[in-house]
Amino acid sequence: MRRDFSDLFDTSRPLVALSPMAGFSCVTFRGLCHGLGSDYAPTELTRARSIVMNGVTKSYRFMRIDPEKEGVTAIQLFGNTPGDFTEAMKIICEDELLSRVDIFDINMGCPVQKVVKTGAGSGLLKTPELAGKIVKSSRKTAESLGKVLTVKTRIGFSDNNLNGLEFAKILADNGAQAICVHGRSAMQMYAGKADWEQIRLMRESVKDYGVYFFANGDVKDGPSAREILDVTGADGVMIGRAACGNPWLFSEVKDYLLCQNADNAIKNISFKEKCDMLLTELHGRIGEVGERTAVCEMRGVMPQYIKGFQGAAKMKVALCRASTEMEVRQILDDCLRLREDGL
Ligand SMILES: Cc1cc2nc3c(=O)[nH]c(=O)nc-3n(C[C@H](O)[C@H](O)[C@H](O)COP(=O)(O)O)c2cc1C
Repeated sequence: MRRDFSDLFDTSRPLVALSPMAGFSCVTFRGLCHGLGSDYAPTELTRARSIVMNGVTKSYRFMRIDPEKEGVTAIQLFGNTPGDFTEAMKIICEDELLSRVDIFDINMGCPVQKVVKTGAGSGLLKTPELAGKIVKSSRKTAESLGKVLTVKTRIGFSDNNLNGLEFAKILADNGAQAICVHGRSAMQMYAGKADWEQIRLMRESVKDYGVYFFANGDVKDGPSAREILDVTGADGVMIGRAACGNPWLFSEVKDYLLCQNADNAIKNISFKEKCDMLLTELHGRIGEVGERTAVCEMRGVMPQYIKGFQGAAKMKVALCRASTEMEVRQILDDCLRLREDGL
């Protein structure tokens, strides 16, 4: 069924979205973030070619969506050939659940060597003409399937060739309906500070195209969200790392953007609430991938939930050794009891 997307990228208020993060932005976490204010959240990246070769089964866990819990849904694909994207989209739309996706997002920002060396991800920043062809054919196919086509990219490939301005124009010219820019070059990976001024220049360069524009990089709270929007002139903001272990960030940022008052916006989340949310995420992930994998994958996330609380360093060590849900529960229960006893 075709949905009406006319109000999806409504510029009357800034959208606040969860940035895709491989290993972190699973369907469970995206649902939790949406429940706390995230407007939408693309899945982590999936290789278009793999879908063309193997169908959706092999990559299903990365593409799984939950429209009831997530609201607007988006699947992110990466690749280096226009035909792979268009074919992958058609195959995805043959699956009962995945066909309900609203947005196809193309990754043109991944800096990982094994992706870049195939010319995909941020490698496409080096071949703007090919990137344009990919967007053009993908938009056409997305439209025929009743979907929206968006692109996520960076400010350039290397620091001495920040070609983001030209690149953004090519994306917009070929029909991208929204563009998200992470303010680092591919060579920078995640180091240094995100360059919001370069994002502003890219935003400016596509102003006349009417494309929705997300700024991304180093947003961690309400004030930094307000600042990136003001500096870049972007329509919306995407938040990645700061949301890990802190899905409440979305309501905090939204309240701040609405009321401009940090005191009103910042919520004090108790240790107990953090533990409960950690367990909710863990439980959801177990439903997705099984207990062993979920507990293992949560080792990078659990410390984020308890960060800043007294005794966090000790707890982190214990949590990172846990291998079952029961062990995690026990560690958290023990800490809660010690805190209640004032020890
Ligand atoms: C662990 C990790 C995995 C990521 N995976 C993806 C991905 O699959 N697709 C994507 O477009 N960006 C990915 N990114 C980039 C983030 O979406 C985001 O652009 C970047 O972290 C900067 O935003 P932040 O400062 O708010 O974290 C990833 C980042 C991290 C840290």
